[in-house]
Amino acid sequence: MLKQMGRTSQAVLVILYVLRTVKAFEMEIIPANKIVAQIGETLVLTCNTTGCASPSFSWRTQMDNPLGGTVNNHGTYSTLTMNPVSVVNSHDYLCTVFCDKKGKKEKSVKVELYSFPSDPIIEISPSSVAGGTVTVICKIPDVYPSEHLELILKKEEHVLHEKHFYGDDSTNTETKTVTYSFIPMAEDIGKEITCVAKLPVPYMDFKPKERVSSQKLNANFGPQNTIITASPGNSLMEGDSLKLTCATESNPPPQIVWRKHLADESIQHLIKNNVLSIPHARFSDSGLYICEVINLVTNRTETATVDIVIQGAPVITELSIEPSTTVQEGENVSIQCSAESNPPPKIILRRKSDSADMEPFSAGSILLLPSVMFLNGGGYECVAENKFGNSKSEITLNVEYGPKNTMISVIPATAVKEGETVVMKCTSSGNPSPVISWKKKKATGEFEKIFKNATLTIQNLKSQDLGLYECEAYNQLGKEEKAVKLFVQARLENPDQMLPLIIAFSSVAAVAVPVVAILIYVSRKAKINGSYSLVKALRLKV
Ligand SMILES: *[C@@H]1O[C@H](CO)[C@@H](O)[C@H](O)[C@H]1NC(C)=O
Ligand SMILES: *[C@@H]1O[C@H](CO)[C@@H](O)[C@H](O)[C@H]1NC(C)=O
Ligand SMILES: *[C@@H]1O[C@H](CO)[C@@H](O)[C@H](O)[C@H]1NC(C)=O
Ligand SMILES: *[C@@H]1O[C@H](CO)[C@@H](O)[C@H](O)[C@H]1NC(C)=O
Repeated sequence: MLKQMGRTSQAVLVILYVLRTVKAFEMEIIPANKIVAQIGETLVLTCNTTGCASPSFSWRTQMDNPLGGTVNNHGTYSTLTMNPVSVVNSHDYLCTVFCDKKGKKEKSVKVELYSFPSDPIIEISPSSVAGGTVTVICKIPDVYPSEHLELILKKEEHVLHEKHFYGDDSTNTETKTVTYSFIPMAEDIGKEITCVAKLPVPYMDFKPKERVSSQKLNANFGPQNTIITASPGNSLMEGDSLKLTCATESNPPPQIVWRKHLADESIQHLIKNNVLSIPHARFSDSGLYICEVINLVTNRTETATVDIVIQGAPVITELSIEPSTTVQEGENVSIQCSAESNPPPKIILRRKSDSADMEPFSAGSILLLPSVMFLNGGGYECVAENKFGNSKSEITLNVEYGPKNTMISVIPATAVKEGETVVMKCTSSGNPSPVISWKKKKATGEFEKIFKNATLTIQNLKSQDLGLYECEAYNQLGKEEKAVKLFVQARLENPDQMLPLIIAFSSVAAVAVPVVAILIYVSRKAKINGSYSLVKALRLKV
């Protein structure tokens, strides 16, 4: 078994050996043929062999210049690393391989170099064109071989300047520049300045062979000729719409700030925009407007101003009563009216009344009513007038007072007989209107509320109804009382029937009413036959 395996291994070895001897000794350089490398990059040349167990390598340049790289041998291949590739590497490189009995083989490769690493750099000076000459510089950094370089300067599509470096014999990378000066026209501002660099080396294959850069011709100027235009004009009617536009010449576009001079000399800051719109102009919008224009690049500021006048008929802005629209009699009252207009209004404050007598009256914005009376209450009007028209406003003064002139009337006004009807009516004035109620004095001396109405009707009058009645007029400012007394004035003598009473009344001031009810009984003996005299009867009272 073992023996058998040994024999098999031997057979394999024999076959391998045969294959190795069959393989021919070859070599190659990678990359093959011509190499185009950009200066500054890394280039690795590999010299690879096949068919040689342990080759030895040798790298050379033609003319035996220095290699300009590092050699590393790795058994069957060798590398030459140029990091970075520079002009000294512009050679034919020859790799020679020695393989013991198989002799030597060699191959060469040509390394060609170029450098075109970045886009052109454009410099325009001065950076802010202000009417003078502008110099455009276009730089092509680290270019090689510069004798092929072509530069074109353009303003938009128009060629300003062209330069070829045909005779250039520089042996290394160089920064090439082209300079062109011109006086730009106003319309040139903002146009593109383009620099086109071409490196059309016919025998070298690389990309790109053309590089382009552009820059805008920038003119920083201003602000200048700043003006405000007012639409529809500087003088307009109240309620119109006003549009102020601030125009200026400036590049870059400026910052615009609107301000307004106020009456108190202070300044109000408005919007930051070149248009200031006021949809409904008011009198308070009159004044001096300032547009401040700031160019942050030129560091210059310019201002323009416009004086706006808003005219129109008066507008009443306030009509009020001090201390309040509802006051009590005796208070000092002032009525105030303010109105706005241009030209200033003439203000009249007066009693609103249909009569010709407009007193009180004030040709001013304040009407004083000292120690006001109930009669001063009512409507007042403020009239503000100028040449454009007038406006009116009304206000009502409400003067309150406590109940007054409280009176009781009794119907019928003469004496009545028992069983008849008596109506007692109580009236009183006051603001607010007093609430009236009736009370009757009880036997205990206390008053009892009996009726909550102005009119107290007693039907079928009886002796129990006799007594003292009190009417109370009440509002939140006070109360007033009046009393009336029903008493027997006489008894009729009529033997056949019940004896009816003749009842009379007397008005009494409530405060003056004595606590004890006064009932006056007429002597039964007094003989009144069928008729009686009230005058006589009243005489009996005291
Ligand atoms: C050398 O050539 C052989 C055969 O063509 C290949 O397999 C090997 O990768 C090459 N070595 C290098 C470093 O290029
Ligand atoms: C702008 O102008 C002001 C006064 O003229 C000066 O103090 C300031 O330094 C200037 N700023 C710049 C950025 O030039
Ligand atoms: C009203 O004004 C008069 C005079 O100025 C003053 O004497 C009086 O006290 C005032 N009355 C009230 C209720 O303020
Ligand atoms: C008060 O009297 C009036 C008329 O005399 C009457 O219409 C009204 O209903 C009375 N009110 C009460 C609460 O009795």
